[in-house]
Amino acid sequence: MNARLVGLFLVAIVIGAVAVLALTYWERSSRSKQQLGKPDHGAESIAATPIDASRLHNVFRMNESMFSGSSPDSEEGFRELQKIGITTIISVDGATPDSAIAAKYALRYIHIPVGYDGIPNETAYQLARAVQTSPGPVYIHCHHGKHLGPAAAAAIQLCLDPKYTPEQAETWLKLAGTDPKYRGLINLPRTLVRPSAEELNRIPADFPKAATVPDLTRHMVGIDERWDHLKLVKAAGWKTPPSHPDVDPAHEALQLKENYREATRLTASSKKGEAFLAMMIEAEASASELENHLRTKPIPADAAAKAFARNQALCSSCHERFRDWASGS
Ligand code: HEC
Repeated sequence: MNARLVGLFLVAIVIGAVAVLALTYWERSSRSKQQLGKPDHGAESIAATPIDASRLHNVFRMNESMFSGSSPDSEEGFRELQKIGITTIISVDGATPDSAIAAKYALRYIHIPVGYDGIPNETAYQLARAVQTSPGPVYIHCHHGKHLGPAAAAAIQLCLDPKYTPEQAETWLKLAGTDPKYRGLINLPRTLVRPSAEELNRIPADFPKAATVPDLTRHMVGIDERWDHLKLVKAAGWKTPPSHPDVDPAHEALQLKENYREATRLTASSKKGEAFLAMMIEAEASASELENHLRTKPIPADAAAKAFARNQALCSSCHERFRDWASGS
């Protein structure tokens, strides 16, 4: 009798356990299906593209006709874009697009730079109009593909698709890894005022291959390039990085210093005031210090690391104070 009860009890436990496992599995699989979604359903369609793109980074697909990602820095990058089927590239950062190489791969370039402090409505409408009047699929890029590019893609989709909700745009920015510290970009889904069809139609569809970029932005693009190289130099133990045999460490620091010096002289810099100029001069001094260490044999690694860190801290603190801030956010 007792043995039979125990048997029944065990059977009940086994049935219970199987039911719990089945429910968990069902819940998990339906959740992952939701994440993959269908290609034509706004946020549900958002998925990291299954694209084998070794030269491009942070490539995400907004929908069938729009992707965002990093800048195609090399010829191989353009080749990969062509392979994906892209026909139009829109750059939204300050670097001058290489439209000659793009043309070689039958890719058309449009350049509409935006800032880290947010995308004004008028610029968002221009971007939307550019996509609306260009053959697709379109690839929207900034340098790394994480902040400006995805924000521009969200703005475009909000302008062009009335069914695309601000919540979907927020999910998209999260997926792309847009840093919440860029409040103007993160708040864009809520602050953008959608245009009417007539408003969009009124915008002339002639967009530049390379926009005129303000001097300070141009110098920052140069500083950023030098800085990318110096990061590789640091990772290689203060030597020429194997991936970039043309990079001369001390020369990179020298160019960084010169970029800072020139940037300090710009009217745009003096307009930002004394505190800005003081930071710029300190950044120049830290670049000069780094240069001296990189010219010393053997290179004093600890001192070089200190000068590097001092410079890095200045990039962040100056941007926080003078670049990433958006009025009303
Ligand atoms: C003293 C202030 C200051 C320092 C130091 C500074 N920046 Fe900037 N940076 C700015 C400002 C201001 C802008 C926005 C310029 C504009 O109006 O487009 C900017 C813009 C940029 C941009 C965006 C360019 C674009 O395509 O729109 C990048 C990238 C950048 N900085 C990288 C760096 C890096 C890397 C460092 C450090 C190695 C650095 N900056 C140091 C003030 C600074």
